[in-house]
Amino acid sequence: MTDLILLGPPGAGKGTQAKEIAAKHGLMQLSTGDMLRAAVQAKTEIGRRAKAIMDKGELVPDSVVVKIISDRIDQPDCKAGVIFDGFPRNLPQAEALDEVLKSKGRKLDAVIELKVDDSQLIRRIEGRFTCAKCGEGYHDRFKRPKMRGVCDVCEGTEFARRPDDTAETVTKRLMVYYRETSPLIGYYYCKGNLRRVDGMASIEEVSQAIDAVLAQIK
Ligand code: AP5
Repeated sequence: MTDLILLGPPGAGKGTQAKEIAAKHGLMQLSTGDMLRAAVQAKTEIGRRAKAIMDKGELVPDSVVVKIISDRIDQPDCKAGVIFDGFPRNLPQAEALDEVLKSKGRKLDAVIELKVDDSQLIRRIEGRFTCAKCGEGYHDRFKRPKMRGVCDVCEGTEFARRPDDTAETVTKRLMVYYRETSPLIGYYYCKGNLRRVDGMASIEEVSQAIDAVLAQIK
């Protein structure tokens, strides 16, 4: 069993790389952002409460995301290991995750920090779009569908952009990252499981660097 965290600011490539690792290594991607967006779409009670917070680029309450993760990790598809993508987001969530994993007889094997310059983060987020049918992620410049207007995976022709991917909200999300989430770099460094990867490289090169980290910890 391998449990990993992908840590990095908005647009660092956490979701992109989590999908690659999941496919290559048989791990389950647990993205709190994706789970919250699904709750918003399904108009559940959690989704209704989360929507306004997410649109502003602020953090959803810790109790909500910790419960989502704690319940989800019990599912059989998480048995071989998970990649936490966008969780934990602050020290209380990191401490809660330690407790959750311990209570379930699991432990963190590595925390992979993706380092990317702010100007590049903004370019990545502003150009991001996804297939409306299967959710495959693309970028206006860095990852276009092979055939213009057609999803590579499901051949869908409808695409969507996230409501929180506006220039104004991205700036807010970056501030929240530096204030709330970046202290986790020190937290995991002190625990000895922080690994740093250059997230400025191409998607393929970042993926290879993560593979090298996984080979070391296995
Ligand atoms: P969430 O969905 O987690 O968003 P985020 O952390 O802001 O991260 P992103 O999804 O924006 O970026 P990413 O690093 O996954 O980048 P991606 O791979 O898409 O959270 C959204 C909101 O939900 C939060 O603001 C908060 O309100 C709430 N929330 C979620 N979790 C929470 C929690 N734990 N606690 C409280 N609230 C929570 O890449 C971006 C683009 O760049 C893509 O187009 C991609 O194709 C491209 N790209 C990726 N890698 C490269 C590369 N190496 N080179 C060139 N282009 C690349």
